[in-house]
Amino acid sequence: MKKWPLIHTPLPGPKARKLIHQDRTYVSPSYTRYYPLVVEKAKGLWVHDVDGNIFLDFTAGIAVCATGHCHPRVIKAIKKQADLLLHMSGTDFYYKPQIVLAKKIARMAPGKGSKKVYFGNSGAEAVEAAFKLARWHTKRELNLAFYGAFHGRTMGALSLTASKTIQKKHYNPLVPGITHIPYAYCYRCPYNLSYPECELGCVQWVEDTLFRTTIPPEEVATIFVEPIQGEGGYIVPPPEFHREMNKIAKKYGILYVADEVQSGMGRTGKMFAMEHFGVDPDIIALAKGIASGMPLGALAARAEIMDWEAGSHASTFGGNPVSCMAALATIELLEEGLMGNAEVQGNRLMDGLVKLQQSHECMGDVRGKGLMVAVEFVKDRSTKEPARTWRNDIIKHAFRKGLLLLGCGENSIRFCPPLTVNTAEIDTCLSIYDDVVRKIAG
Ligand SMILES: Cc1ncc(COP(=O)(O)O)c(C=O)c1O
Repeated sequence: MKKWPLIHTPLPGPKARKLIHQDRTYVSPSYTRYYPLVVEKAKGLWVHDVDGNIFLDFTAGIAVCATGHCHPRVIKAIKKQADLLLHMSGTDFYYKPQIVLAKKIARMAPGKGSKKVYFGNSGAEAVEAAFKLARWHTKRELNLAFYGAFHGRTMGALSLTASKTIQKKHYNPLVPGITHIPYAYCYRCPYNLSYPECELGCVQWVEDTLFRTTIPPEEVATIFVEPIQGEGGYIVPPPEFHREMNKIAKKYGILYVADEVQSGMGRTGKMFAMEHFGVDPDIIALAKGIASGMPLGALAARAEIMDWEAGSHASTFGGNPVSCMAALATIELLEEGLMGNAEVQGNRLMDGLVKLQQSHECMGDVRGKGLMVAVEFVKDRSTKEPARTWRNDIIKHAFRKGLLLLGCGENSIRFCPPLTVNTAEIDTCLSIYDDVVRKIAG
């Protein structure tokens, strides 16, 4: 039987309204909330608010709840570990969950040779650690990152980020030595070229111009890159992009650092999105989906790169034993079938959206891999003028119809449901989305 969202109060409902009022009084105003959803509980893809309304979740709590909300096997692992040990600090002591998870990640990480794993609590911490490790190992001071990139909000990760100026406003000076370069955003090529005739001019430019004019390549520690840009708009670069960029990195002894915080952990149908591009990154940063909602960040690097000394980096809470056990249960579920499901259901979602694109002029671009899918909205397909207001209105209206969506980039909507999503849920999402787009931008 097809399950449908159930909205039986105005939104926000009375209980939600009261809580939002208190939130405004006591909680930091720096958070961005697209719509007034106050969650009480959730299971699978179905989220209940405090007034008993039921929503279909195509956000997975910002691409985090990979195994669906409160998967019974993840909950069981958490409860079992919570009875044994909540915390001891893996930086000063040893415990089995951290060691077992490190072994698992080290063996999963792409590329030959042995790897080592560092643990933190979030995506930003994983990126921050990668940034510091690269400096430690290479003793080089310069880094390249990309326009549109989002790597987190701590000072180092923020310095690598080039997503929205509001994220940097009043926070300068940031970490020096970072040069942002254009990403392969082919729908709006920054060089006004077309793929494949461009022959990846954006990659060639790094060697032919940047490294000849302003940046001595032998002083560059890293190229920091998202395999598929996340917050920037779910931008999928051409198949050869990472291979060619990585070739340049190798030529000059630069570390290729893949930020898989959003694209990793099976979301694209492979454990790591970089596997689609045939590149083995030197360092890989993970978080979000890794522990189904428990806070955990991880960094995997080849053993010879992870050569920093005792005391050079650590975190009190990093590698929390409960989070580690949640991660092990998550990885087991991904390997048993959820990764495959991400590919199958991702194709169904993509096909459905491409079909809808034929009847909705405002859907300028549909792109993605697996369950990392986005639609970019335009006012006019030939001028590609961004339709920001439509995008925002579609998200808000979908919420009123019981479908949870999130934006990305300036004018795109992302679809990043839990990897447990089934065919009926994909079809429900497409049906609500179709109605909403017709109403707002039809
Ligand atoms: C690619 C990427 N890197 C890093 C981060 C930062 O993660 P966190 O918010 O857990 O610090 C994010 C968060 O959206 C992300 O998408």
